[in-house]
Amino acid sequence: MRAVDLIRRKRDGHPLTHAEIDWLIQGIANGAVADYQWAALLMAILWRGLNDDETASLTRAMLHSGHVLDLSRIPGPKVDKHSTGGVGDKTSLILAPIAAACGVIVPMVSGRGLGHTGGTLDKLESIPGFDVRLSTDRFHQVLAQCGLALIGQTDEIAPADRTLYSLRDATATVESIPLITASILSKKLAEGLDGLVLDVKTGDGAFMTSEGEARRLAASMTQICTALGTPAVALLTRMDQPLGNAVGNANEVRECIDVLRGGGPPDLVLLSIELAAEMIALAKIEPDLEHARNRAHRVLQDGSALICFRKVIEAQNGDPHVLDDPEHRLPQAPVHLEVSAPRRGFITRLSASAIGLISMRLGAGRSRVDSIIDHRVGVTLRRKLGEEVEGGDALAIILAADAASAERAAAEFLETAVDFAEQPPNVPPLILDRLA
Ligand code: URA
Repeated sequence: MRAVDLIRRKRDGHPLTHAEIDWLIQGIANGAVADYQWAALLMAILWRGLNDDETASLTRAMLHSGHVLDLSRIPGPKVDKHSTGGVGDKTSLILAPIAAACGVIVPMVSGRGLGHTGGTLDKLESIPGFDVRLSTDRFHQVLAQCGLALIGQTDEIAPADRTLYSLRDATATVESIPLITASILSKKLAEGLDGLVLDVKTGDGAFMTSEGEARRLAASMTQICTALGTPAVALLTRMDQPLGNAVGNANEVRECIDVLRGGGPPDLVLLSIELAAEMIALAKIEPDLEHARNRAHRVLQDGSALICFRKVIEAQNGDPHVLDDPEHRLPQAPVHLEVSAPRRGFITRLSASAIGLISMRLGAGRSRVDSIIDHRVGVTLRRKLGEEVEGGDALAIILAADAASAERAAAEFLETAVDFAEQPPNVPPLILDRLA
């Protein structure tokens, strides 16, 4: 085979075979296909697309470019959740203990935040001592002992994706639905799953801002995942405003602990329960979603989900006392500054992307992959979209490392993140659709 012939075929709109796609992916590691040839092929794929068979072949080839976990020694159904990411999106730390408390085995491999969006690993690392880098043996032990384990991606997981993602980033070819599908699924399926729940977000703080594109991505991922033998369900959810009230790493962990103790903001509780219920139903632990939802509520209310979270924190060397005294045991920002409403009115916009950027500039996120982050800082919302406020009411609290950055963030919040009107806005439901 010659790469140039396959690039020409795709350039002219013809499908590639399973064997050809395999050869192209193997060519990344064995040098048969140069980066510049893959770059040209990625552009041809962006324009011409891939059919479902090609997307499935690409996903499978990328998955097998690396190590696939064999969890067969651990009894029980293995199910995970993947979110396309957003601001204040902390459901993983709630639903993983809920699902584990119901008997699901959750081998969760997560990423770090970049730009305005946060990452599960950064949140976990705000728990003093918490180790997200476990050896494969230790990962198996923690999973068997706690029903869940929370780690970062290793170099052995889908290495072809790392090469292709950096080429896509440099060649303006990230926005191809088949390429996104193969990229996400190749990494998730390396966890050796029996089922996958997808939270595909749309709105100003999401990776896919347009609802149509998010819907196409959700349909593509559920279809390809299921075709590859792992049943999948996707929820299409809004990301116009942050999820919950807390943004920033330790701040978000604090809110998760609140939910696991039976409190927390209603939107975060709702989405965490729905996603956990989908995991429990996919794992066939309950016969249908209604029973799965009730079971998820039960383990949240009776404290068993909190016990699971405590067990995994202890097993991964974190300080379990954060659960008893989150105010003092989690990193605390030295400066808290209130942002007040400048006028009376209904909140008609509470921009997730703007609040994510404010939090990133305070130090909670990364503007570059190598930025150092500050776990203490972030934003706590006091009001949400559609609520009515009087002039002077607290809209948010800025959690900052110093007074100057707090002042800057508060001014930016009023300038970029929030709008008011006399009439209440139409707030769309958080969960727009379910695709199975
Ligand atoms: N996240 C991924 O892991 N891959 C993509 O292609 C896009 C988002």
